[in-house]
Amino acid sequence: MLSVSPLIVAISGLWTSLMTKNYWKFPRYNSLMPQLTPLKIRAFKKECRKIIALTVYDYPSAKILDSAGIDILLVGDSLGNVVQGKPTTLSVTLDQIIYHSEMVARAAQQALVIVDMPFPYCQLGYDEAVRAGAKILKETLAGAVKFEGGESRADSVAALVDAGIPVLAHCGLRPQEIRQAGGYFVQRQKEQLFRDIEAVERAGAFAVVLECLETELAKEATQAFSIPTIGIGSGPYCDGQVIVFHDAFGYTPEQSPVLKHAKQYADLHTIITDAARQYAKEVQEGVFPGEKHSFR
Ligand code: KIV
Repeated sequence: MLSVSPLIVAISGLWTSLMTKNYWKFPRYNSLMPQLTPLKIRAFKKECRKIIALTVYDYPSAKILDSAGIDILLVGDSLGNVVQGKPTTLSVTLDQIIYHSEMVARAAQQALVIVDMPFPYCQLGYDEAVRAGAKILKETLAGAVKFEGGESRADSVAALVDAGIPVLAHCGLRPQEIRQAGGYFVQRQKEQLFRDIEAVERAGAFAVVLECLETELAKEATQAFSIPTIGIGSGPYCDGQVIVFHDAFGYTPEQSPVLKHAKQYADLHTIITDAARQYAKEVQEGVFPGEKHSFR
C-alpha cells in the first residue's frame, strides 16, 4: 500500500498539470495551434491594426508568405481562376480545395489559414455547410472557413459557428453568384449590404470580406460595424486588405494588364520567362550543366 500511494500522487499530479495550464505548454499541442486566431484577428480592429491577407494555394508559397509576416493565408476558390485556368470559381470542388489547403496549412506557423467553402456548400443550407466546414477542419490544419453570403444564409453561418467552425463572411460582390448577377460589377447598394453585414455579424462571423464595393460605401460599412472588414477592390478604408497571389506577384499566363483593384508587387511572368529562356540557351550551348553541377 505504502509504495503504491506515491505513484498515485505522481499520476494524479501529472494528470492535473496536463488538464490545466501545463497542457497547453506541450509543444505537440502548440504546434497545432496557429499563432493568429480568429479572436486575435477580430481584436485587430479595436487596436487599429490593419489585417493583411493574401490568397495562396501551395506549400512553398505559403511558407514564404508566412515568414514574411502575412496575417491571413486564404485558400480562395480563386484557385479555379488562377491555378486551374478556369473562367469562374464555380467548378472548384471540396476535395480540390482541401488538397491545396492541407499543404498551405501545414506550411503556416504564424498566419491564420482560412479555406473558402466552394460552390455550392454556402447555398445548400446549414446541414451541408457544417458537413463541408467540418471536413475542411478535419482534413487540414486550417483555422477557419470563408463563407459567401449574407442575410439569406446567416443561418448557415450561425450553424458553422455553433459547430466550432470559425467563419470569415464574404459580402458585396459574390463570385459564386456570377451567373445570376450576369457579370462582375462594382457594388453600390447600401441597404442590402448593411443587412447582410449585420446578419453575419449577429450569426457570429469574426470578420467579413467586402468585395468590389464603391469606396465610400466600404468606408461607411467599416465605420458602422464592429466586425472587421477585409477589402478587395473596396478602397483604402477597410480594416484590412486581401489580394490574389497571382495578381500581387504577376504570376499570370500572359503579360496581362494589372486589374484595376490589384497592384503588382513583382513580375514573376517576366522573371520566369527570362529564366526559362536563359536555361534553354545554356542547355543548347552546352553551358549547363557545367563542372559545378556535375558529379565526379
Ligand atoms: O477566392 C478568393 O480568392 C476570394 C478573394 C477574392 C477574397 O474570395
